[in-house]
Amino acid sequence: MKKIDLVVGLQWGDEGKGKIVDLLISRNKYDVVMRGNGGNNAGHSISFNDKTFSVHSLPSGILQECINIIGPGCVVNPKAIVSELDNLGDYVSGELVISDRCPLILEKHIIEDKKLEDKKAHNSVGTTLKGIGPAYAALKNRTAVFAGDLLDIEKTLKRFDFLETEEKESLIIELTLYKKLIGKYIKNISPIVYDAKNILVEGAQATMLDNLYGTYPYVTSSNTIVSSLLTGTGLNYKYINKVYGVTKFYTTRVGNGPFITEMGEDTAKTVQKIGKEIGVSTGRIRRCGWIDLVQLKYAIGLNGITDLCMMKSDVMDDFEEIQLCNSYNEINTQNNIKYIPFDISKYKPNYVSFNGWHSDTFNKPLNSSPDELNTIFKYIEKELDVHLTFISTGPAREATVFVH
Ligand code: IMO
Ligand code: MG
Repeated sequence: MKKIDLVVGLQWGDEGKGKIVDLLISRNKYDVVMRGNGGNNAGHSISFNDKTFSVHSLPSGILQECINIIGPGCVVNPKAIVSELDNLGDYVSGELVISDRCPLILEKHIIEDKKLEDKKAHNSVGTTLKGIGPAYAALKNRTAVFAGDLLDIEKTLKRFDFLETEEKESLIIELTLYKKLIGKYIKNISPIVYDAKNILVEGAQATMLDNLYGTYPYVTSSNTIVSSLLTGTGLNYKYINKVYGVTKFYTTRVGNGPFITEMGEDTAKTVQKIGKEIGVSTGRIRRCGWIDLVQLKYAIGLNGITDLCMMKSDVMDDFEEIQLCNSYNEINTQNNIKYIPFDISKYKPNYVSFNGWHSDTFNKPLNSSPDELNTIFKYIEKELDVHLTFISTGPAREATVFVH
């Protein structure tokens, strides 16, 4: 029987999904790895044999021997795909397939993204400026060009008769180039997916960046939670085996928007430095905060997480004290809540404190974690009511423990 595992981010992105995906592929030998949302706004890092690779639009399985599908829920920038493949060079081991149902990111979408961000000025979202929002907007507006449209440009252009001559001419040039760049990867994915026995779905972005359930408007333009990954891949729920939720031992976000557990400047600087919290896609420094169990509980519920993956506790090896947010108080009423409210900016966090463990755990397999850290892990598992399955203490594949 077919089996599907999914990996999703539980926070605001950059949790370490790429590492977990890479690890799961090594352990479980998936025949197909699929992306089902987002585009080259994602940035997933994978490290092995002392090398670190970044993938943006490509599924992280591209470095291993399996079929890598960019599913219909993804928006595709053909130039970005080619440059990513070029950068990976000989390390590309997997086959790439782009679903014919993927909407394309056109040049004009990238221009629109920047224009709208400039117009919003201090209220800007802080997008990756890759044209993601306008590409999804075109899909909803029924003016998208699909990857499959590149295979019959003449017919496609008939849908765009309403464009001014100049705009239509530049569209012809653009689509002709894109066909040349990615035409050979475009396929109807149904037969591949139908035959596949063991599929891994790699979520991009994360729960709090979901267009509907995140901290709107400071979110991405796709949905990111598990139910949307089923839509974005065309897979069905009957075959779901495991849903891995990835979180850091603290919280980060890039871009603007409310961040209830954001740390004070000095602590944030320490975490940024030790945790190398700089964006893979945009080079921006990530904002840092304490782990937020209210937020994680919400994410675990929305996604139906079966297994929790805890990343980067090693970053706090030298911390005297670790804070965990376990409820919020409304600023005006002092009303205490343990769920995500509609307007998170009206709340402040309540913390519970734990002692640090003062030992070097970086890049080591944490077979037996220091007592203080173990106490924190146990507390997190109990509060979130989910099993902690992976603990990762560094980029290396070996620096991960599978907790049975
Ligand atoms: P991975 O998959 C972190 C953020 C952007 C911005 C907002 C909207 O690496 O975890 P967009 O360009 O998507 O319209 O920007 O979403 N964002 C991410 N933040 N990790 C990501 O992906 C992100 N993808 C988008 O910074 O705040
Ligand atoms: Mg990232």
